[in-house]
Amino acid sequence: MKQPKEIKTAEGKLGVLLPGLGAVSTTTIAGALLARRGLAAPIGSLTQMGTIRLGRRTDERAPRIKEFLPIAALDQLVFGAWDIFPDNAYESARHADVLEHRHLDAVREELERIRPMPAVFYPQYVRRLHGNHVKKGASKAAMVEQVREDIRDFLRDSGAARAVAVWCGSTEVYIAPAEVHSSVARFEAGLAEDHPAISSSQIYAWACLKERVPFANGAPNLTVDFPAAWELARKQEVPIAGKDFKTGQTLMKTVIAPGLKARMLGVAGWFSTNILGNRDGEVLDDPDAFRSKEVSKLGVLEHILQPHVYGELYGKLFHKVRIEYYPPRGDAKEGWDNIDLVGWLGYPMQVKINFLCRDSILAAPLVLDLALLLDLAQRAGLRGTQEWLSFYFKSPMTAPALYPEHDLFIQSMKLKNTMRWLMGEDLITHLGNEYYD
Ligand SMILES: NC(=O)c1ccc[n+]([C@@H]2O[C@H](COP(=O)([O-])OP(=O)(O)OC[C@H]3O[C@@H](n4cnc5c(N)ncnc54)[C@H](O)[C@@H]3O)[C@@H](O)[C@H]2O)c1
Repeated sequence: MKQPKEIKTAEGKLGVLLPGLGAVSTTTIAGALLARRGLAAPIGSLTQMGTIRLGRRTDERAPRIKEFLPIAALDQLVFGAWDIFPDNAYESARHADVLEHRHLDAVREELERIRPMPAVFYPQYVRRLHGNHVKKGASKAAMVEQVREDIRDFLRDSGAARAVAVWCGSTEVYIAPAEVHSSVARFEAGLAEDHPAISSSQIYAWACLKERVPFANGAPNLTVDFPAAWELARKQEVPIAGKDFKTGQTLMKTVIAPGLKARMLGVAGWFSTNILGNRDGEVLDDPDAFRSKEVSKLGVLEHILQPHVYGELYGKLFHKVRIEYYPPRGDAKEGWDNIDLVGWLGYPMQVKINFLCRDSILAAPLVLDLALLLDLAQRAGLRGTQEWLSFYFKSPMTAPALYPEHDLFIQSMKLKNTMRWLMGEDLITHLGNEYYD
């Protein structure tokens, strides 16, 4: 990546396009609308709440990130979405049952004005949902063209100067990268012949790349993480990022595992289970959709703990992840972790974590940050995979030869150093020798 000579200013409105207008999307939109009116705080959003230290510790320069970076302000955002159900954002938010009336009613009219565009939806990739607010097209290639038209119409009708997209649609069944994903030419041929390994989410991503709309993927689907998409993103000079928002249990895992490893404590087993009852939970009740999630969730410990390097500590680690669909809980997910530790001379210990979280409350700030940072990346001339945004993902996209960084603290340092680098500030190594000369 070349350091940007200049970053274009964030002038005009920024369109935030969300394929999937469900719990996460509506919680994000309502939250951004409430926050910009000062009616609630955007807690969990680094761009809105965070500061960044610049220079030496004695300089006392720690501006707010939103003042340091030339990112769009909340009142510049306009939202658009697609969904397989025709409910507007208010109705969908009521159905998702995440936010209380007092919050939804305060922004009701604005939410009601956000009506989803008909979706690209091939039911074999999300088998538990049956919606009829969907497009018809002669081929997957024709579907790409329809989404491109939607994007252009949205920009024109909303008056947005540019747009970014964040996939907040359901988790699709697991698809392994295949020949059809290996190059732009093969993928385009696959679109024309309705190749079965091209899912609905890939069609949105492809249309966005063609329209030079940066794209982040909040689900574990392949979507924008395959060689043809990387190639197109570079060619079109569009930044992309993914996959799968890092919210509840995996967030905790990537906080705790680096701590245990830093102290060279062994881990013999890590059992994680969740109950959740929202529409996401219903979709994940399909074993093939769960497979996508499982792949995304399981990689984390392997990469943080490095059992191939620390055989004695982690070589026999047994890691299991379960998600149980349990309707009474709705979006208020409960996660349990049992960690079997090994200490000095091999003595066993245990840690239990019981996280009573709220799925969409944790995901919404990530959607907002990703939209703002991807737009910044585009204006700074960055293109292709944006690994510095790993902080936000369970299964970070990287250059093909690299393993992903899962440790939240490494991710956070990488994110903030990239912000400094973008703005021509010194990177911070935490060496600190200069204070003792
Ligand atoms: N909330 C979290 O903590 C979290 C964390 C990581 C990932 N995710 C992922 O984020 C996504 C959204 O989660 P959610 O809780 O909002 O789920 P949700 O079920 O409430 O919303 C998803 C929406 O996408 C729609 N949809 C499905 N296929 C579509 C398509 N092809 N085009 C347009 N719309 C489509 C559905 O109708 C639904 O309204 C899921 O994939 C989920 O796995 C969520």
